[in-house]
Amino acid sequence: MISRAVAIVLSANLVLCNNCYWNDGSSYQLFSSKTPYDTVRGDIRDYPVPENCSAVTVWLLNRHGNRNPGDDDTDAMKVIAGLKDEIVDSFNAGKSKLCAQDVDDFKRWKWNETMEVSQSYLTGTGYEELYNIGRRIKERYPHLLKGSQDDFYFRTTNEQRTVTSSMAFVHGLTENSNLSLVVDGPWPRDDVIRPYENCDRYQKEVKYSQESSDQLDAYYKSPEYVAVQNNVQNRLGIPTQLSADDIYTFYDLCRYYRSWDPQLRSPWCSVFTKEDLVVLEYKDDVRHYYRNGYGSWISVSLGGPAVKDLYESMEASIQGNGKNLIAYFSHDTMIEMTACAMGLFKDNELFGATRNPERLWRSSVVGAFAANIMAVLNRCETSGQQSYKVQLFLNEKPIDLCPLEGCEWKDFREKFQSFSTANLDFCI
Ligand SMILES: *[C@@H]1O[C@H](CO)[C@@H](O)[C@H](O)[C@H]1NC(C)=O
Ligand SMILES: *[C@@H]1O[C@H](CO)[C@@H](O)[C@H](O)[C@H]1NC(C)=O
Ligand SMILES: *[C@@H]1O[C@H](CO)[C@@H](O)[C@H](O)[C@H]1NC(C)=O
Repeated sequence: MISRAVAIVLSANLVLCNNCYWNDGSSYQLFSSKTPYDTVRGDIRDYPVPENCSAVTVWLLNRHGNRNPGDDDTDAMKVIAGLKDEIVDSFNAGKSKLCAQDVDDFKRWKWNETMEVSQSYLTGTGYEELYNIGRRIKERYPHLLKGSQDDFYFRTTNEQRTVTSSMAFVHGLTENSNLSLVVDGPWPRDDVIRPYENCDRYQKEVKYSQESSDQLDAYYKSPEYVAVQNNVQNRLGIPTQLSADDIYTFYDLCRYYRSWDPQLRSPWCSVFTKEDLVVLEYKDDVRHYYRNGYGSWISVSLGGPAVKDLYESMEASIQGNGKNLIAYFSHDTMIEMTACAMGLFKDNELFGATRNPERLWRSSVVGAFAANIMAVLNRCETSGQQSYKVQLFLNEKPIDLCPLEGCEWKDFREKFQSFSTANLDFCI
């Protein structure tokens, strides 16, 4: 009996201790479209090249790295950041459930002015994410880093964050080599890596669709989300009444600021429990599913031209006029549309009102900062016979579509040849 009582007391203490953010090392790491690349990536250097094979062409579609928030989000964050003193006062008045150290961290916290003067710009963290992807590819496939500009093709979309990401990638890729490579674009209109921009049908029927906003409303009204809202209000004990939107702005302060901190911590995250973070992660999954994903056949079709480019790059290489490396720098919208065209992470349905913990569609994975889809064509030689094998990676991890030892070219062609006819005729 006595030992049981002790055990109960001990576990009660443990629970209290776990309620502090600052010393809880295992805090939840997935922050949907603001997840740092390192949290979800594998490492292309750790996977074997198929036996008796050598890589001849690498094709890569990359999201830009970590960036600053855009203007609306920055404005909203600045308003919520103004609650800092109220949060501290509430603690001093004994009305807060935050831990003392977490409140200390709030006191020390400062609004970051760079964010306001460079909205949506790539950050130093984002630069490193892309630089390191380039560096790892160089280390994995040093024999491909030969030749001249003609053996390479890179293109970016028309934004500071993607242009700078492409420069960071080329920096990592060519450092300490004699290669000097340039990036094509941005093109004023890019129907391969940003086709949705000029697709009227997408802009009208998908981007701001009624369904999408209904699903998001349902998410904000779900019992889970309302519980998070009440929990945060109670935990902080502040007089200001927090709206559903305000709670999400706390989440933005948490996930942006932590992504710039070497220890991946921000006091703004301390207002949430791990369970709260799991619920908050779901919003972008809903939003992206209906805007960029399986929620609309139009979004899925918009990934077609990129997969066509992938397939044709491999085919050209087999014909003897391929490139060593092709890389594009684009946006989460594009990575997600391309993944959908390939049939990855497919849930047949997803509802704002009810979160399915087993869902395959995860913006923390497919829409993370610097998320990427990579295809590697290998030329193989077995007893004098030449053949080709394709490996596919997402965030430098193998994906089910092809086994790690590679798809045989004929199987790959069977799956992907149909994309040769992909077009955007449906946009009009
Ligand atoms: C301010 O934000 C930028 C990103 O805009 C980040 O690189 C920098 O480290 C931040 N500074 C501080 C002190 O957190
Ligand atoms: C770069 O070029 C110089 C001069 O041609 C040569 O000595 C050096 O080995 C080259 N470096 C690399 C990494 O290829
Ligand atoms: C690789 O080549 C060797 C020598 O030709 C052969 O014995 C072996 O079976 C090959 N492996 C595969 C997987 O084809």
